[in-house]
Amino acid sequence: MSTLVIIAHPDITNSTVNKKWRDALSEQEDLVTIHELYPEYPHGKIDVEREQKLLEAHDRIIFQYPLYWYSSPPMLKQYLDEVFTYGWAYGSTGNALADKDFAIAVSIGSAPESYTSEGNVKYSVETLLSPMIATTRFVKANFAGIHKLYGALNITPSQVEENAKDYIEFIKQLDK
Ligand SMILES: Cc1cc2nc3c(=O)[nH]c(=O)nc-3n(C[C@H](O)[C@H](O)[C@H](O)COP(=O)(O)O)c2cc1C
Repeated sequence: MSTLVIIAHPDITNSTVNKKWRDALSEQEDLVTIHELYPEYPHGKIDVEREQKLLEAHDRIIFQYPLYWYSSPPMLKQYLDEVFTYGWAYGSTGNALADKDFAIAVSIGSAPESYTSEGNVKYSVETLLSPMIATTRFVKANFAGIHKLYGALNITPSQVEENAKDYIEFIKQLDK
């Protein structure tokens, strides 16, 4: 299965987690195609036709990003608004994404305890990511799962390293 990883990080140069994830994936020959939205579109003008062709060419799409205000960085929202068009992604003639697998890889600043009903956030990460999961269903794709890293603000280099290996395993097991 061909896998496209769409990375939406506004400042990957100063990232700890998403940069490590990207670098670990890029060392895995033939595992994924990496596509970074912010470096690709520094002026914010997304090439919709090009993005649609890229999506059409892959069976599985992983959206990788840091959790920002319990949501995604803004360019991922812009990407969905502009690229998932009527007549292409949905509507009577729009089925370009049907039967593809979608997954999410998300880094989260706070610890897992925050994301419980007793924690300070109260909602689980799965609940907070429900717009992405609902979008997947709306375009008739299959939601394949979430790779998470909690506590990104207090993480050691060896923990990031270990998590990057888990991320690769997460992608490999999607094929099984
Ligand atoms: C603008 C902004 C908003 C953030 N919002 C959240 C949030 O809602 N919840 C949370 O747990 N962490 C939040 N964080 C922390 C990021 O999720 C964390 O820094 C990121 O996942 C680390 O990944 P990186 O090393 O690739 O940048 C936020 C950080 C920034 C800069």
